[in-house]
Amino acid sequence: MKSIKIVGTGSALPEKVLTNFDLEKMVDTSDAWIVERTGIRQRRIADENTATSDLVAIAIEKACAQAGLKPAELDTIIVATSTPDTVYPATACWVQKRLGIAGSAAFDISAGCSGFLFALEVAANLIVAGTAKKVAVAGGEVMSKVVNWKDRATCVLFGDGAGVAIVVPGDGKSGILSSNWGCDGNLAPLLYQPAGGTRLPTSEKTVKEMAHTVHMEGNQVFKHAVRAMGGAALKALSEARISAQDVKLFIPHQANMRIMEAARERTGIPFEKMFVVLDRYGNMSAATIPVAIDEARGQGLIQDGDILLLTAFGTGFTWAAAVFRW
Ligand code: ACO
Repeated sequence: MKSIKIVGTGSALPEKVLTNFDLEKMVDTSDAWIVERTGIRQRRIADENTATSDLVAIAIEKACAQAGLKPAELDTIIVATSTPDTVYPATACWVQKRLGIAGSAAFDISAGCSGFLFALEVAANLIVAGTAKKVAVAGGEVMSKVVNWKDRATCVLFGDGAGVAIVVPGDGKSGILSSNWGCDGNLAPLLYQPAGGTRLPTSEKTVKEMAHTVHMEGNQVFKHAVRAMGGAALKALSEARISAQDVKLFIPHQANMRIMEAARERTGIPFEKMFVVLDRYGNMSAATIPVAIDEARGQGLIQDGDILLLTAFGTGFTWAAAVFRW
């Protein structure tokens, strides 16, 4: 076991709510289609002045308050995001500026919707190696600013938000019982943002063609997601040598209810044990798992000793899963 402890969680969600009925007025879609195909009813949308670091900084403040820490005491800030404030520096650096702190290591992880689990794995290893002692592990996204609001196949799916866990060395009782991660870069073209990097620098043409927004082969993503999330979750259960009955809560990445359901069914975990925030927040990419953990804690659903099964997939294609004892 990697002995670590989560001593505080926090989340930040923009105030503005965009419902499926609002979307009906923007593109050719319907509440019935979106609910049936995705399970999403509404999502939060950041205002024009809000960037990913703003949401992450608020979530860090809340998580630190719960942990009885000041943000200045953190020695490491890791932000998992696909929607950074800027291409460089890392969003984690902007988070420091927003919080008015300096000195901690601060860097981003780009692993799409698997980003929070990648960041948690990195944090755990830094702690076990003795490199870090007080780590803010964040997943934050402002997807609404990279979505093409005229493309009904993608714009109905995403939402904005951030979630944070404050991770410290454990006492041997709590931590990661097993974890796995991976990536198949050959599938990268199925879900990506074509323009804005060195492959296709931003130009008048790329803006006109909306190449700076999400491009996705939905059906293909769906197929690979079901396979990857279920497979990673089953591997994590088997390597932790526990059964579905031992799991208190199953928290999958929340992209689409049908994908989550397929992954849950493969693990044999009952429906009641799956914690869902997708209906209210949509797909917040790297933020869905930490926001869900924070909300589950807020509802008193996670107590010391409880076992969580976390699993995710995302652009890349990345995947990851972890069995975590609280
Ligand atoms: N409203 C109404 N109709 C729509 C909409 C919409 N919003 N979007 C697509 N349609 C239409 C299509 O045009 C198509 O019409 P046609 O049959 O006349 O051609 C029909 O609905 C069916 O389209 P499909 O794409 O086959 O629908 P599907 O059941 O596959 O659902 C969806 C589409 C929801 C996008 C699904 O494929 C999916 O969820 N894929 C995974 C997406 C995902 O999770 N992406 C995030 C990855 S995570 C990350 O790393 C960011």
